[in-house]
Amino acid sequence: MTQTVSGFSKLSKSEKINWIIKHHLQDSADARTIILQYWNSNEALQNLHDEFIENTISNYYLPFAVAPNFKINNAIYTIPMAIEESSVVAAASKAAKFWLDRGGFKAEVINTSKVGQVHFNYTGSIQSLQDFFKEIKPKLISATEALTGNMIKRGGGIIDIELRDKSELLPNYYQLHATFETLDAMGANFINSCLEQFAHTLKDEATTNAYTKQNRLEVIMSILSNYVPECLVTAEVSCKVEDLKDNDGINPEDFAQKFVQAVKIAEVEPYRAVTHNKGIMNGIDAVVLATGNDFRAVEAGIHAYAAKDGRYKSLSHASVENGIFKFWIEIPLALGTVGGLTKLHPLVKVALQLLGNPTAKDLMKITAVAGLAQNFAALKSLTTTGIQQGHMKMHLMNILNQLEATSEEKQLIVAHFKTHTVTHNSVIEALKAHRTK
Ligand code: MEV
Repeated sequence: MTQTVSGFSKLSKSEKINWIIKHHLQDSADARTIILQYWNSNEALQNLHDEFIENTISNYYLPFAVAPNFKINNAIYTIPMAIEESSVVAAASKAAKFWLDRGGFKAEVINTSKVGQVHFNYTGSIQSLQDFFKEIKPKLISATEALTGNMIKRGGGIIDIELRDKSELLPNYYQLHATFETLDAMGANFINSCLEQFAHTLKDEATTNAYTKQNRLEVIMSILSNYVPECLVTAEVSCKVEDLKDNDGINPEDFAQKFVQAVKIAEVEPYRAVTHNKGIMNGIDAVVLATGNDFRAVEAGIHAYAAKDGRYKSLSHASVENGIFKFWIEIPLALGTVGGLTKLHPLVKVALQLLGNPTAKDLMKITAVAGLAQNFAALKSLTTTGIQQGHMKMHLMNILNQLEATSEEKQLIVAHFKTHTVTHNSVIEALKAHRTK
């Protein structure tokens, strides 16, 4: 399909829909119905969503669910999760319940500092640049006062700015590497505004400063980094190996050994590590999305952290020592509970309320726990029954919906599969058998 258009963003919503139906959807009345079906009848709410982004034609729903019974540092949480994958919330809830009876999760924020950089080229000597930087550093900071005032009043702001020599990697390439404390805000706008001000000051000063005015200083770009290896949170669970006993008849010692080995495999084998970490992200992304945070930023930062030692590895770790089973995770998480979508998206507000309007630090802990819980549930299934048993049970409803089963049929088939193995074919057969009865 090669139809192009100019001025599309200026069209009204209905005109945009007419255009795509005509040029890309073969004038399909069904497609129009589906697009319109997802509009919200509350006009103000619909307008709010329309204005989040450009060229909005409809809404894209994800289920918004909750996983109860999470005990974190002795407080109980019901965690909101937005995700489409059938088994994730069930798995999280199961892991929460399992650990509720065994002391719950412990979580701790190690640090919350975030990073932003001004990337620039400079043709003079490193010594002249260092002398220049030393002289202008206070100005770099004072020139941002209008931006940083409120953040400083609340206890945050710019932590430091360093000059970094990267000219061995790329000729003439240097950075202002700045660290920030943004408190309960994710801080992207704050950081980027400060960086752009640093860049202006840097450029202006360089043209008149005695150390640099003979040389060329060119700012390439100024942007925060989503790699936040210092903005770290840890979460863990532990119990006596014998207390791992569940009502599945599996020997707890064997389970613990196998579980630890499964984690070790993900520490040494990247093919496994990626899937292992994907399971962790099932929990993390779902909470990040439900609480209106930027899951792309979180994903990028976490995966970079998983590869920080030069090889992609598991984000979680497990051990059995002196009869104690321990399972833990350490991840970078730059999250906010103020600003961004948090005040704007009504469901995000509810999600945060549900968590007791957490600080960013609390949300970091809760999110890390959701990731660890998800990982625990996945590894527990993988090393015992296999993943498909639970997964297909949860997927059953999707298959029944695909087959357009009625509510009565769904009830009967779900009851049938309480004692039978779910596969796509077995569901088709069961439904067929029921319909021909
Ligand atoms: C599926 O979404 C996630 C798992 O593959 C994670 C894992 O293998 O650890 C089950």
